[in-house]
Amino acid sequence: MSDFTSNFWSVFIAGVTILSILACLALLVISGKTKAMTAADNTTGHVWDGDLREMNNPLPRWWVGLFVLTCLFAFAYLYLYPGLGSYPGSLKWSQTGQFDAEVARGNEQVAPLYARFAGMGPEQLSKDPEAMAIGDRLFLNNCAQCHGSDARGSKGFPNLTDKQWNWGGTPDKIHETIAKGRMGVMTPMAAAVGSPEDVRNLANHVLSLSGAPHDSVRANLGKEKFMVCAACHGADGKGNPAMGAPNLTSGIFTHGPGVEAHIVNMINNGKTGVMPAWESKFTPEQLKVLTAYVWGKGGGVPGAPAAAVADAASVSVENGIVKFFFATGKADVASGADKALAEIVAGVKAGKKAIVSGYVDSTGSAAQNEELAKQRAVAVRDQLKALGVDEGSIDLQKPDNVEAGAGAQARRVEVKLM
Ligand code: HEC
Ligand code: HEC
Repeated sequence: MSDFTSNFWSVFIAGVTILSILACLALLVISGKTKAMTAADNTTGHVWDGDLREMNNPLPRWWVGLFVLTCLFAFAYLYLYPGLGSYPGSLKWSQTGQFDAEVARGNEQVAPLYARFAGMGPEQLSKDPEAMAIGDRLFLNNCAQCHGSDARGSKGFPNLTDKQWNWGGTPDKIHETIAKGRMGVMTPMAAAVGSPEDVRNLANHVLSLSGAPHDSVRANLGKEKFMVCAACHGADGKGNPAMGAPNLTSGIFTHGPGVEAHIVNMINNGKTGVMPAWESKFTPEQLKVLTAYVWGKGGGVPGAPAAAVADAASVSVENGIVKFFFATGKADVASGADKALAEIVAGVKAGKKAIVSGYVDSTGSAAQNEELAKQRAVAVRDQLKALGVDEGSIDLQKPDNVEAGAGAQARRVEVKLM
């Protein structure tokens, strides 16, 4: 695009350029024709320091030749390339054109590589070392300045390696996030909540949602006020990926340390977070690889999108206590629990007692939860019985404290050997 808004300056500059070249040539011709006054000894008559004399030789032919060639070169150049005002040159060369051509050539070279990825889904891609090496490079060059080189984010920039996806954690949603960009807007809410005391109370209620340390008296007082937040964060506080409103029950916070002052600040001031759009910067293939890379980072465990994984049954052994985790509302023992169960069986055979207690998360009604906790404990007991453990060696117990907080951690049955 030309920088000239009217033709005048274009013509003016072109004119000045051509005139100066012509003037150079004219100067050559004139100085070749007129001879300066010459003394008999072919000097100009100027003498310095006694015998330093100025000769009056014509310009060397080779030099004149070069000068003329330079001028001809200038004309040829200005004919072929842009240089005369807004005239684009007969070759139509431009910086952006050259850049685009180089990019196109580069893309052509990697095309065979990406062709191999074409038939792969995100799951397969995230296990392909070549694809992930490309993803790593794309991420470091384009995303790391905000999300960190390890993708763990920082204040204001989401951690992409945890299981919390404000905009959705399926490959499709992540692709949409990267391609189109996102803008998360929380408006300042203090006016809707009430007095500064109300805001503090509500903040403590928000903290209680994730089981974070809080003042429970204030939390109770603030509970009602959560209504004004529910439009975006959901009545249960679990967020809404349609508008990027984060899950407030997970204990994962991006904008601060998850303490009262941080929540109060969010309520009072709101926040707007902008994730830029990358569609125009990457080829569709690059976007695909990058999506798989990010998805894989965020606990994109093969077989299921991240959100579902967080809600699946599983088993772990910590400090000799076997913990059976359950999916929301379910009492099915995780498949693959055999090894953990075998450990308990072995312990009982060695003369120990298995203490089985069930925990639930704090969502849903208390009566329902108690029933669910019991069902889960019974499910584990039945499995042990099926493995030949005598019922007398199993002690079903009510947990001494029902844990506050939601999430997979709370939905568990613990088996202790004593
Ligand atoms: C208009 C929709 C909307 C309403 C209403 C709203 N929020 Fe938010 N909230 C958001 C969005 C979107 C974000 C994420 C902002 C970002 O990441 O840029 C957010 C972020 C937050 C965070 C920060 C979480 C973190 O990761 O650090 C807290 C805390 C929070 N909101 C609490 C509240 C409370 C309490 C209320 C009610 C007074 C409320 N919000 C009302 C949309 C809303
Ligand atoms: C200029 C800073 C910046 C850059 C660069 C950037 N991001 Fe983001 N990104 C953000 C912010 C801020 C958010 C949170 C937006 C919101 O919800 O308010 C975000 C959100 C995201 C999310 C959504 C996370 C969730 O919880 O749903 C993904 C995925 C993401 N970015 C991936 C990327 C990738 C991949 C790149 C590189 C191509 C990238 N980002 C580059 C600032 C950036």
